[in-house]
Amino acid sequence: MTEQCYLAPASEDADAQIRELARRWSLPVAAPDQPDGLRLWVGNGAVQLGDSRPGAPGPIRADFLDPAFLRRLATAGPTREGLVRAVGARRGARPGVLDATGGLGQDAAILAAAGCPVTLVERSPVVAALLEDGLQRAGGDPRTAEIRGRMHLVAADSTAYLQALRQNQQPDVVYLDPMYAPRRGAARSAKPMQHLQRLLGHDPDPPGLLETALACARQRVVVKRQRRATALPGPRPDLTIPGNSTRFDVYLRNG
Ligand SMILES: C[S@@+](CC[C@H](N)C(=O)[O-])C[C@H]1O[C@@H](n2cnc3c(N)ncnc32)[C@H](O)[C@@H]1O
Repeated sequence: MTEQCYLAPASEDADAQIRELARRWSLPVAAPDQPDGLRLWVGNGAVQLGDSRPGAPGPIRADFLDPAFLRRLATAGPTREGLVRAVGARRGARPGVLDATGGLGQDAAILAAAGCPVTLVERSPVVAALLEDGLQRAGGDPRTAEIRGRMHLVAADSTAYLQALRQNQQPDVVYLDPMYAPRRGAARSAKPMQHLQRLLGHDPDPPGLLETALACARQRVVVKRQRRATALPGPRPDLTIPGNSTRFDVYLRNG
């Protein structure tokens, strides 16, 4: 089940930005009598996704400037980040990565901080609006401007995008981080993922996207999985790189 998200003008100051978001991403603006639910608004200088229902968790945004994340970006490299090792980055080699499930761009920023050029493809207009706003703020801050310069956002469905690439445009690496099925109780997802799970549900077709990725990547495909989850249906991964709560399944191509 997925839920419609409406734009909610937060204040008169933000009205012009809301109108621009509605135009740019073809998003509906909430009517005055709209029942409570998912809302996208502009507040504290950022585009935010929240839920107007009483008791809902606070809003989220694409944020590359959080102090803990900045510290992580400062040390991102093959030694510290399993993802960076998984894409095959090593001394003198920084492959170009197509992140086919862009989301809020955290994984892509880790790769870009390690020196990889990254194209982020995101099909949800709401998530793309959050991501574009986060990238814009990152571009305006000297601590992240260089990293942001290696990140390029494409608002599209990755399967269609990959299939339309000419051979000489194919990426070295395709990275997939599909939405997990929602969890209950103690294992419930963290706050940001709860809004995203309401908005997006869980991805129905990661195996189809894996098949397309395998046909397009020059060097490898990397899939993020929960640590104990089975691999995606399809060929067996050639390598697995463990993380704390996740792991990266690596499918090598010819290179
Ligand atoms: C789990 S999130 C990715 C999180 C991301 N790795 C990060 O670090 O923020 C999955 C995202 O992939 C997007 N997505 C799933 N399938 C897609 C597809 N075929 N094309 C483009 N985006 C897709 C979803 O809309 C969602 O935003």
